[in-house]
Amino acid sequence: METQVGIVGAGPAGLLLAHLLQRAGIESVVLEARTREYVEHRVRAGVLEHGTVEVLKETGVGERLEREGMLHHGVELRFGGTGHRIDFSALAGGRAITVYGQQEVVKDLIAARLQSGGALHFEAEVTSIDPERGVIRFGDEELRCAVIAGCDGFHGVCREAVQDRLRIYERVYPFAWLGILAHAAPSSEELIYTHSDRGFALHSMRSPEVTRNYLQVPPDEDVGEWSDERIWEELQQRMATVDGDFILQEGEIFEKGVTPMRSFVAEPLRHGKLFLAGDAAHIVPPTGAKGLNLAVADIRVLARGLRSYCKDGDGTRLDEYSDRCLRRVWRVQHFSWWMTSMLHRFEGDAFEAKLQRSQLEYVVRSHAAATTLAENYVGLDLEDV
Ligand code: PHB
Repeated sequence: METQVGIVGAGPAGLLLAHLLQRAGIESVVLEARTREYVEHRVRAGVLEHGTVEVLKETGVGERLEREGMLHHGVELRFGGTGHRIDFSALAGGRAITVYGQQEVVKDLIAARLQSGGALHFEAEVTSIDPERGVIRFGDEELRCAVIAGCDGFHGVCREAVQDRLRIYERVYPFAWLGILAHAAPSSEELIYTHSDRGFALHSMRSPEVTRNYLQVPPDEDVGEWSDERIWEELQQRMATVDGDFILQEGEIFEKGVTPMRSFVAEPLRHGKLFLAGDAAHIVPPTGAKGLNLAVADIRVLARGLRSYCKDGDGTRLDEYSDRCLRRVWRVQHFSWWMTSMLHRFEGDAFEAKLQRSQLEYVVRSHAAATTLAENYVGLDLEDV
């Protein structure tokens, strides 16, 4: 088998790349180890930056997103039992975010791919890749490609294939998130990031009938330790306000999971014919809601580079891929680390707790500090992405 671009992984990164290439008349084959059912139902974050929404809309996969996505013009930071709104419209040039589940983006991109007749193989587990020759092996088959896009996530084979050539930068946090989905109406119009003495809590949503809530828990926490009652009780305690006005709506919990927290970057992103993108190359802790958006930014740079290369034989943009992406990657790494450090409870560190409180008060009082949060949250406009 032969193709121009072999794409390993049918998450948002791989599927979006296939979609953008298809529109540019560049042939690709997407190989995904899991089933369609699995990737369409894998629960992930759900905040889309302005720029992410734009690219989906402009390329014809934003119809359901426009109908069902929830536009938010701010978020709340809650600490000391009091809420403070960060107003994106006022602070970030009128930009907003859209709440729409990552798996919904995946469903829309799969539908577009199948409709266009492009190759997309599920349960096609890649066993090895050759980044120099541009060969992908899966099952008994070999796929020869001009370029390989490694979009197979943090545990995939693509990064592993070049691991002795990578420089790794990493930070692992001493906590995880327990995330739930519940049949309950959102208790607030906007997301609430809560810093409390009992740990971090986040109130988010998926629709007018479904809420998504998170609790900071110890790393490697066993979900079995968390009955529905215990989860609601802990959320109620962490999110309670001093005026007693906040009422967290409870409901039937239909999904529970623990997400580890890490910051990770593997440099560079290009090795011969292999280009790493999304979680295969970098991980951010979810506190800034950046993972999917960063993957989309990589893919936009890669798709543009591939257009120049495949259409005009000009490899300059591809040569610049790694450096261009890494500039945004590190800005987002800093933001995600900063949000994480400011909002979580660091066990037994009283000095850290004092710093956090001072920082939170500063962020909600200072126009400059609030702007920093707002413009990073809605997504910075770095040139070319
Ligand atoms: C989510 O809705 O799943 C979500 C929202 C904001 C975050 C992380 C996750 O920072």
